[in-house]
Amino acid sequence: MNDFREFNGLNKVPQHVAIIMDGNGRWAKTQGKDRLYGHTHGVESVRETVKSSVDLGIKYLTLYAFSTENWLRPKEEVDGLMELLVSAISEEIKALHESGVRFKTIGDITKLPPSCVDSLQEAVDFTSKNEAITLILALNYSSQEEILHAAQQIISEINQGVLQEKDLTKELFSRYLYTDGIPDPELIIRTSGEHRLSNFMLWQAAYAELHFTPVFWPEFRKKHLVAAIEDFQHRQRRFGKTSEQIVV
Ligand code: FPP
Repeated sequence: MNDFREFNGLNKVPQHVAIIMDGNGRWAKTQGKDRLYGHTHGVESVRETVKSSVDLGIKYLTLYAFSTENWLRPKEEVDGLMELLVSAISEEIKALHESGVRFKTIGDITKLPPSCVDSLQEAVDFTSKNEAITLILALNYSSQEEILHAAQQIISEINQGVLQEKDLTKELFSRYLYTDGIPDPELIIRTSGEHRLSNFMLWQAAYAELHFTPVFWPEFRKKHLVAAIEDFQHRQRRFGKTSEQIVV
């Protein structure tokens, strides 16, 4: 029994929570600091969110850490983010492993600096047998690119005769996405008061509940995650059916 179920008596913790971490730059501004200061503090929120997710019994946690569009930011910020990623992984990997975290990435990580690719690959390999939770970092991620890439692969396999057009279903299509083997998120949280998906998990979000909080990412704590889950628990997920058809 995890502590969340104990304290609110409800038994509907989402299996997969995905978070668009937003507001690091604006939070840093409120502190009179530069944007990297915000990202550095954002790492503390990542740490607490992963730990809280394990405590709450969430099985998959996806964090949108770097989009394909983020390369357009000033070089100093991009370089700082990459360094932060490497240092956070090397500082946290042992504790993550001990907590049973299995580490994965989605996105085209081959375009990241070699030091990042190496440390990510090492973390993936080191934690591959863990089962408490799967932590998925979306890095150099674009959902449109992901869908396009899947379509290209499918067309190529059809042309080679490996795959037949008649066999293509939604289930088969989803196996060509970066998230193959990962269930779709049931809850997507975005911090900082913005109300959009920003090219994040567009296919996988088909039936996700969306929760928006005004809290900037560096201030996101366990209580905010719990509030999002409570919000989720009060939604009626109808999947196209009527309320009357839904058996609680
Ligand atoms: C969004 O805030 C945040 C990011 C683009 C980067 C997120 C990165 C971290 C939290 C640190 C490293 C991550 C890990 C997983 C160790 P923003 O910069 O877009 O904020 P703004 O909208 O206020 O400008």
